[in-house]
Amino acid sequence: MSTRVATKMARIEGLPPDEILFGSSTAMEEVRQKALKISKTNVAVLLLGEGGTGKETLARWLHANSDYSSGEFVKVNCAAIPSSLLESELFGHEKGAFTGANAAKPGRVERAHLGTLFLDEIGDLDSGLQSKLLQLLQDGFFSRLGDQVERAVDTRVVCATGRKLEEEIEAGRFRPDLFYRINVLKITMPRLAERSADIPQLAEYFRKLHARQFDKECEPFPPELLSYLRNLSWPGNLRELSNCIARYIVVGPEGLTQREATRARPSSYSYRNSSQDAVPLKKICKEAIREMERNAIIEALRSNHWNRRKAAQDLKISYRALIYKIRDAGLIAKRPNAQERTESTTTNA
Ligand SMILES: Nc1ncnc2c1ncn2[C@@H]1O[C@H](COP(=O)(O)OP(=O)(O)OP(=O)(O)O)[C@@H](O)[C@H]1O
Ligand SMILES: [Mg+2]
Repeated sequence: MSTRVATKMARIEGLPPDEILFGSSTAMEEVRQKALKISKTNVAVLLLGEGGTGKETLARWLHANSDYSSGEFVKVNCAAIPSSLLESELFGHEKGAFTGANAAKPGRVERAHLGTLFLDEIGDLDSGLQSKLLQLLQDGFFSRLGDQVERAVDTRVVCATGRKLEEEIEAGRFRPDLFYRINVLKITMPRLAERSADIPQLAEYFRKLHARQFDKECEPFPPELLSYLRNLSWPGNLRELSNCIARYIVVGPEGLTQREATRARPSSYSYRNSSQDAVPLKKICKEAIREMERNAIIEALRSNHWNRRKAAQDLKISYRALIYKIRDAGLIAKRPNAQERTESTTTNA
């Protein structure tokens, strides 16, 4: 196998498989449809979304699935490199362009020739560089620092930001003409809470990934735990879920309780439903009790490391009753399997 092919395969191997990356939620189905259409074009793409929603992951997927995949995926974090260094980092320099420039050096734009240039945190790019980038996007030409020669590159540009660029334009910090250039094709990554249907599958993916990474054994997660994870709010999105599971693998189930930012999503019952009709008090009380019971079950399971038999003892109910209540609370969708039925019979005999 040639080195080039081997390198490309290694890059794609770093990505989750498509069924994990896009999951099965409606929110991600939209992303998949757009990404598939966009991947074969060479028009600039803008990826929007909160921190940890997977913008960089999608940028890598777009690269791997584009006509530029045999070239390099070159990432530039516009917020992490001081603007005094960023120009030469991006566009390169000629010998003597500034003090200390002892030799000519190509920049990352050149490295991305026939590949993908990923400009992360584009909203943080300073105004001088915004003009130079605009020229690159308009005609594919740029010049190294201290050089008169115009060079041409053919690169796929993908930009990402967590900022609202319209607000940056309003504040005079972002050029509107650059915005229109990069905003032709845009994908907004949903928050993890908006794709909660994908959480169980993602949690299992991260479990296997981190178990391999830390060289630890970790049993598949019980359905109650997956359901518990699914109902949390995850303000740090996929990064937070991934970190939380890494902690679980390293320090054990108590690692889950160290999560501070994440809270269960707000309770859904209210005396008015979404269409503003009043809901009878009896129904509200029933739902409130159900939710309290559900929380008590989760707490007992969590403090007993998701061992159902021990949780049942803590709750002072039979194992069989706990399994019934777990199902009733929607913590597992399926009926107990044959092994569980045998366990239950043995325990309650
Ligand atoms: N669809 C996905 N499937 C599996 N893992 C994912 C997916 N998207 C992101 N991840 C993982 O979640 C973490 C955060 O993803 P990524 O860095 O792509 O997000 P981001 O939006 O660029 O975040 P930030 O804005 O903070 O830079 C990474 O560890 C990444 O591997
Ligand atoms: Mg990122």
